[in-house]
Amino acid sequence: MAISPDLLKQLEEKRKAIYEAGGKDKLAERKKKGLMSARERLEALFQPGTFMEFGLHAQHQCHEFGLADKTFPADGVITGIGYIDGRPVAAYSQDFTVGGGSLGSMHAQKICNLQDYAMKSGMPLIGINDSGGARIQEGDAALSGYGQIFFRNVLLSGVVPQISILAGPCAGGAAYSPALTDFIIMTKTNAQMFICGPEVIKAATGQTVTMDEIGSAAAHATISGNIHFVAENETHAFDIAKKLHSFLPSNNVMDPPHHPTPTVSMELDPVMNDIVPDDPKAPLDVQKVIARLVDNGDFLEVQRDFAKNIVVGLCRIQGIVTGIIANQPTVKAGTLDIDSSDKGARFIRFCNIFNIPIVTLVDVPGFMPGIAQERGGIIRHGAKMLFAYAAATVPKITVIMRKAYGGAYLAMCSSDLGADLVFAWPTAEIAVMGADGAVKILFKREIASATDPKKKEKELSAEYRDKFAAPYEAASKALITDVIEPSQTRGIVAMALRNTLAKRETRPPKKHGNIPL
Ligand code: HXC
Repeated sequence: MAISPDLLKQLEEKRKAIYEAGGKDKLAERKKKGLMSARERLEALFQPGTFMEFGLHAQHQCHEFGLADKTFPADGVITGIGYIDGRPVAAYSQDFTVGGGSLGSMHAQKICNLQDYAMKSGMPLIGINDSGGARIQEGDAALSGYGQIFFRNVLLSGVVPQISILAGPCAGGAAYSPALTDFIIMTKTNAQMFICGPEVIKAATGQTVTMDEIGSAAAHATISGNIHFVAENETHAFDIAKKLHSFLPSNNVMDPPHHPTPTVSMELDPVMNDIVPDDPKAPLDVQKVIARLVDNGDFLEVQRDFAKNIVVGLCRIQGIVTGIIANQPTVKAGTLDIDSSDKGARFIRFCNIFNIPIVTLVDVPGFMPGIAQERGGIIRHGAKMLFAYAAATVPKITVIMRKAYGGAYLAMCSSDLGADLVFAWPTAEIAVMGADGAVKILFKREIASATDPKKKEKELSAEYRDKFAAPYEAASKALITDVIEPSQTRGIVAMALRNTLAKRETRPPKKHGNIPL
């Protein structure tokens, strides 16, 4: 007995028809625009020959509004499992050539089935979004489908990493599934994300705006802060997703893919000593510090173009996967403001979920002063940093490079907020406020009555800096593990990470904390 050749032929023909998606013409049209097909996108994402498809033969179940005699190959979304770096990853890719990639109930069910599979198998989920949104003909069933996807996005959050790639339109409520995931990568061309487009905004408010101003990758990367990475094109988007994946565990009960060096090198890096400007008022460029701290200068910066006064991203330090959170004094003097607090706090929480140790580099003059900040809720937003650090139980290593003033000192993972080890450079200044401000308040009369008030103020500032704000003061109160030379930083941080890696910290059981949102 052998299988009938007719059955095999039938299978082959069915597959072929589905692979043709919305038809040769539509596929050719995409190619002309320089866009990959939904299937090509999955081929580009995964190692060759590793893709196992789920639900190739699925069809819409709606027979109203002209859909009765229409077939939607794979119902407009390709779902399945493939391999990246030898590890299985679940992915879906919406097919714009099929009903504009619109989401009907079967399309949604396929995504939900994949989400459920990723959850029980403990594997990351990557969604490639390219869709006209809820399938108009399917009405409430389509809306319900979105609801079921959102629900699962939340179930998966903190269990497996979720990455969204936006490679086409992402309109209306459809933007909310990506927004519920950990990272959004958006292509510069062809992708738009918005809740209400320019026409709706015009009709509702009378305001005139272009799609680029509200929905482009550039707008979301710099102004709204909704996305984490901008990709030049689809290929670049997949490269970013793969790079991100290379730092992440498959799920929350696994460790990230550390590649520890056999021994920790304590080799000095004298260039680090030269990075600190001589003038205490000249800003330190923290990117230069990060570039020398991480292995091979290889730092995957997250939200690079948003709230640039804080820098966050992933790297390895002597092989240990690490999340870096650093003040950037070259932008807004490195102050913590509303946006930078949101950015920092979310990244801290991401690292904590997936067992990624945190290294914090501190050079912060305080929270950003200003009416807009106070009225915009800097208290609520700044509190997110305090909350996120205190709640994080992963290894937390802090390096105080220069300024660490006031509440912002505490908010940058001080020992009181639960840092496991804190190192300070000799240039560190830990105080309620900067020396200049402090002496103006404390020695108002002395300065006013001095023969040369400016000179007096300068002398008092220098004395304050040496006597009260120097790191040795904080070290004498055991708030600092050690004062180190900048040149020692890489070796000491690597050793600190290695020493703290097996840390286990349990907290009282609770449903969840109530982070100020
Ligand atoms: C059904 C849709 C569709 C949709 C597009 N198509 N969107 N079919 N439901 N939502 C179909 C078109 O009819 C067309 O079919 C094909 O997809 C390609 O669409 P075009 O308009 O020709 O393509 P293009 O000019 O590139 O424009 C793409 C687009 C536009 C900008 C996405 O199609 C568009 O505005 N669509 C509607 C977007 C939208 O408002 N969706 C609802 C969002 S609200 P044929 O057969 O002609 O090729 C939402 C609610 C979710 O999603 C709520 C969750 C809480």
